Amino acid sequence: MVYGGYSYIDYEYEPKKDDFRVLMWVDGKYPIEKLAEGVAAESSVGTWTKISTMNERVFREYRARVYEIVKVQPNAGFIYISYPFDHFDTKNITQFMASVLGNLFGLKELTSLYVLDISFPERYQKIFDGPVFGLKGIRKYIGTDKTRRPHIGTIVKPKVGLTPKEFSEVAYKAWVNGLDLVKDDENLVDQPFCPWKERFDRTIEKLHRAEDKTGERKLYASNVTDSDLDRMMARMDYIAENGGKLVMLDVYVLGIPAAYAMINYAHELGLFVHAHRAGYSAHHRGNFGVNFQIYEKFYRLLGVDQLHIGTGVGKMEGSPIIIKRFHDIAVKNRGEEKFYIGSLDFVFARHIKPFFPVASGGVDPGRVDALLALHGRDVIIQAGGGVHGHPRGTAAGARAMRAAVEAAVSGSDTPTAAKKDKDLALAIKKFGYLEPSSIKKILDFEKKNKEFMEHLVKTEGINGYRSITEDYDYW
Ligand code: 3PG
Repeated sequence: MVYGGYSYIDYEYEPKKDDFRVLMWVDGKYPIEKLAEGVAAESSVGTWTKISTMNERVFREYRARVYEIVKVQPNAGFIYISYPFDHFDTKNITQFMASVLGNLFGLKELTSLYVLDISFPERYQKIFDGPVFGLKGIRKYIGTDKTRRPHIGTIVKPKVGLTPKEFSEVAYKAWVNGLDLVKDDENLVDQPFCPWKERFDRTIEKLHRAEDKTGERKLYASNVTDSDLDRMMARMDYIAENGGKLVMLDVYVLGIPAAYAMINYAHELGLFVHAHRAGYSAHHRGNFGVNFQIYEKFYRLLGVDQLHIGTGVGKMEGSPIIIKRFHDIAVKNRGEEKFYIGSLDFVFARHIKPFFPVASGGVDPGRVDALLALHGRDVIIQAGGGVHGHPRGTAAGARAMRAAVEAAVSGSDTPTAAKKDKDLALAIKKFGYLEPSSIKKILDFEKKNKEFMEHLVKTEGINGYRSITEDYDYW
């Protein structure tokens, strides 16, 4: 079956070490083979018709090759595509996106196109520095490199509206009552009711007071996200010159080039980067989309030191099985293919350090044990509502979060600790308690039922995939 005069399907092809491999779900108005041809053509060398300018060299050297199709319906299925290294401007991630995540989304014969994963060859990764500080660097700074206790953070709430004075007082209460990290919310930058500079000045002053009082190092993630690069850089200069250590970027809404430039600039100034992924789900959840794990890989290559990856137990979408994979992509250097969650195998080059994954969104002290069952200790547990929504306020909420984490790392659990801890008892009374066994059961189910899940996705297609990655009540 040809598209525009050429065929891109080559089942005999074995991807080379330096090829880029892509896994996607395709559904449309024609047989899956024809749809696959169209996608491969449009994302590489082809177009809708035969062209006089195509020659054998171009087609041989630069075309994409569909090397496997998992047909689910005559006109729907999963396709594996391979792109030769030299197809790309391999110093330029944006060019890569314009190819593989570009025009193909607009092809009108498609009713669904979901790019599940991309594997980036190690050779490509040489152009990136990866996280300069990453998981280990931040642990070292805070002093948890030996204990490996999860870090605990809060997002000051309400998201927007507090004055700088009010904001800094909330931050102080959170720090002195046990939290490591306080952050701006993704939609708070420099609004008139809370000017950025005044908020930073007041909050950093409180941070130093909290450090003196507790003897612990604290972090403030100041959101500098802006549509003006100069303003972001000026804010980062100010942070670095005035005792700050952590800068926050809404990396998804910034887009790759701006995020990359700002991450590099932050690192030049010796600042850690806390990356918020707000907006990712606009691409991640619909019929036409890009799975977050692809962005996560981009962000690790670009060098974020901390990144929101979802929780698996809170308010944001994502089943424990897929969130576990996101956690692996954050902290591991390799992973095997897991077709049933749309994940290709991955390898990070040695110099691309792990980043500190952030579990944020609908978290409270009653979910700490479950979070640890899913993420292990290498996680920043962040709670906004779960701290400031405590019946006795921010201070008690922070103490309850810290008590829950300390209980977990000492081998106990939240309900046991709550028997002797009023803050924790009140938190659980309000928010409830999620048994870690419910998470362990799901992870265990995954281990024992890989073949079943693979079969489910092969027969039910994207709906089978979604039942594993989105709706964990399935179990
Ligand atoms: C975030 O930045 O992840 C959210 O603001 C989390 O807020 P929440 O803890 O109240 O859900």
